[in-house]
Amino acid sequence: MIKLNFNYEVDSEKGRKFLDEIAEDAMGGWLMLPKEIDQAELERIKGTAKEIQSQAEYLVCIGIGGSYLGHRAIIEALRPTSGIKIIYAGNSLSKRELDYALEQVGEHDFAVNVISKSGTTLEPTIAFNAFKEKLVQKYGEEEAYRRIYATTDAEKGTLHDEAVVNGYKMFVVPDNIGGRYSVLTAVGLLPMAVAGIDIDKLLEGASEAVETAMEPALKYATMRYELDRRHYDTEIFASFEPSTMYFNEWLKQLFGESEGKDKRGILPDSVIYSTDLHSLGQYIQDGRRNLFETIIDYPTDEMNAKVVKAVQLAHASGGIPVLTISVPSFDERGFGELIYFFELSCALSAKMIGVNPFDQPGVEAYKNELKKLMENSV
Ligand code: PA5
Repeated sequence: MIKLNFNYEVDSEKGRKFLDEIAEDAMGGWLMLPKEIDQAELERIKGTAKEIQSQAEYLVCIGIGGSYLGHRAIIEALRPTSGIKIIYAGNSLSKRELDYALEQVGEHDFAVNVISKSGTTLEPTIAFNAFKEKLVQKYGEEEAYRRIYATTDAEKGTLHDEAVVNGYKMFVVPDNIGGRYSVLTAVGLLPMAVAGIDIDKLLEGASEAVETAMEPALKYATMRYELDRRHYDTEIFASFEPSTMYFNEWLKQLFGESEGKDKRGILPDSVIYSTDLHSLGQYIQDGRRNLFETIIDYPTDEMNAKVVKAVQLAHASGGIPVLTISVPSFDERGFGELIYFFELSCALSAKMIGVNPFDQPGVEAYKNELKKLMENSV
């Protein structure tokens, strides 16, 4: 069970009313998902993962933001060994990165999982077109289309329409679950299963959290709210396990996109210790006092555990509010719990500060500017 440690008293009762609001929200589908997941769909995901493992040496996962970070976080953290290599593409507009991904696949057998809820996002669309062309060149159209797995909306979007016409195997991003809350849907489950993550265990952990995470999540969300009111407007997520770097990235996206709107929200940042004690450590210890630190304390070795303690003591003495979240196990169950705990905490936090946790209107601004620049250059 996730445990929360900090030396402050907070009255978390006033946040409780938001639980009903989240449950009733049209985008609150993730709240009971671990318990209510469609078993037939889960079996289809596992079956497809085996199929991909048997036909490919590489799986290219194409997606960005919530259609990318969650599964990468778990795959990188747990380093499963199914034998298949996972490559990520479509998470930037850098041609250099795309060419590198194409090069990495080279002449190897491969399959593609293209993931986009809207089915229209520019970054994955460009990468998908490049990999589709490579597939068709290598295998011919029929076999190429058999090697494309599309995770997208059930009814609409360019990707959906193309998948129907070309007969790609399809998985659905449920209507009532937004990108950054979708890691426990096919968005994350299929690539994780292909990589060799035990997705049953991950869902077991998340299901347990449905039962147990409510109180710690309420407390953590309330603590964040109280700190924000006292002008602690930056949260540093700190982990002592380098392989969890992408879990930190997932957290930053979850909180940043959920809370950062209407000129409000805590800025999420992250560090990996002890590495970053030799870079950002100075600022955290001695710089401006607008930071608080949330240590994600994974079970670790004896030496690393000493560093955790040393950091807790040093940073508290430097005037940093330090919150510690203890994770019960460094495995699928532990991460399942952690994912659910943070999703719930984040939705509650956003509700407390008075913003919608489930939209991202700000993301449109850069898209509009880019569209204008592209139109002007034609
Ligand atoms: O959390 C979100 O909603 C976003 O980060 C999206 O996941 C991201 O913009 C990608 O969108 P899509 O899945 O529609 O391609």
